[in-house]
Amino acid sequence: MVDLIVLGAGPAGYLAAERAAQAGFSVVCFEKKSVGGVCLNEGCIPSKTLLNSAKIYDYAKHDGQKYGVSTSEAALDHAFVIKRKDKVVRALVSGVETTLKKLKVEIVREDAKITGKSASGFNVAAGGQTWEAGRLLIATGSQAVVPPIPGVKEGLASGFVMTNREVFQLAELPHELVVIGGGVIGLELASYFNSADCHVTVVEMLEDIGGSLDKEVAALLRGNYEKKGITFHTGCKVTSLSANGVTFQEGGNSKTISADKVLLSVGRRPSIESLGLETLDVYTQCGAILTGESMQTNIPNVYAAGDVNGRSMLAHTAYREAEVSVNHMLGKPDRVNYNAIPGVIYTNPEVAFVGESEDSARQKGFSVKTVKLPMQYSGRYMAENEGGNGFCKVVYDKKNDRILGIHMVGNSASEIIYGAGMLIEMQLPLEKIKQFVFPHPTVSEIIREAIYQL
Ligand code: NAI
Repeated sequence: MVDLIVLGAGPAGYLAAERAAQAGFSVVCFEKKSVGGVCLNEGCIPSKTLLNSAKIYDYAKHDGQKYGVSTSEAALDHAFVIKRKDKVVRALVSGVETTLKKLKVEIVREDAKITGKSASGFNVAAGGQTWEAGRLLIATGSQAVVPPIPGVKEGLASGFVMTNREVFQLAELPHELVVIGGGVIGLELASYFNSADCHVTVVEMLEDIGGSLDKEVAALLRGNYEKKGITFHTGCKVTSLSANGVTFQEGGNSKTISADKVLLSVGRRPSIESLGLETLDVYTQCGAILTGESMQTNIPNVYAAGDVNGRSMLAHTAYREAEVSVNHMLGKPDRVNYNAIPGVIYTNPEVAFVGESEDSARQKGFSVKTVKLPMQYSGRYMAENEGGNGFCKVVYDKKNDRILGIHMVGNSASEIIYGAGMLIEMQLPLEKIKQFVFPHPTVSEIIREAIYQL
């Protein structure tokens, strides 16, 4: 009998195991694949590794000249990039494993299944053994949605179609890549393959790329990528895949474009099948485990954190949800403020945002005022982003004197946005924010400048 069993060792699972062990709980964590989950092994970290190589290559190939730096020959060695990615992933996975070991968390590398209630808690079976715990935390993550489009299944089987899993193992660069779905994964990987000199086409069902991105941000990103050579077909639904092409509907016409690889990035769905949820009667909704504010399910002492609860499929949300779960187990009140969770798209330029977009704020009836400043207001941005056309947009609630959202396009935005999240989390009035000192020269000063113009 242990205090806590964690199912899944992704960001939600491993952090919950760490926090619970730090608080003195005995913890067993089950992981059937690799510690670190999708984020570390086939998501956030692999993509950032690839995108960094792409950025360096972009500089070497042409952008460097804008800064007086020329290189005679630049080449991107994709196989090397993948090898380096593997090295980075291995180091980080081993770091998480070492931390868990130090904290005496038992990691069981098995596919675990909940088998029901026990006398004083819950039973979990794995590898022919049964474990018992007073509390359960389900953190089994999510998997790529595979839509029932004719040809997709066959394409996945033959290797013609890739999800985020296969793409990071790709040995050779494709010549013509079609990306189905212009959301976060689609855009980040379109960015890498475009920089790597592949011909990239993105087919997106909605009218805008980037899902819930602020419309002006989405438009700027699209324009920049069109200039770099990516073709976008928006408002287009893919109808079928054949051995060497993708067919979609565009303005009532059927169009086929050729491809030697297809990336499927049409969203993710929580991984809840075969977990034995029915043995405890855990409620689910739209394929996700239903949780309350404390991440507890309808069954006391059973929690679900991370992608599996379908609230906000981001690794950093998973971390917070893990902490909220453990705090609830410890009797400490805590909650996630979903309005203050930043989102980042690590394209070049980066996109980062937190809180309401202008549209969502107006729809919710706030008394909206916005200010939008070109990033050129920041000296540091000017020094480092020749020809950059990024901006920072602040969405403000006049009536309550609160920042509702901050949206940025421009490099360094990913490293700045947490500060914007704090302004929203702390619900600070403008006069208070004006007292903050922003280091000079940094791109973050754009926020200070924008605040003064509200
Ligand atoms: P997504 O939900 O961001 O985007 C999927 C896109 O596919 C949507 O725009 C949708 O309209 C489109 N789509 C759906 N069916 C389609 C069809 N049949 N034809 C054409 N387009 C279609 O999902 P994505 O990009 O797969 O990302 C999954 C999750 O992973 C997201 O929740 C995202 O937040 C997370 N993620 C976050 C990252 C980050 O924070 N930088 C990086 C990668 C993933």
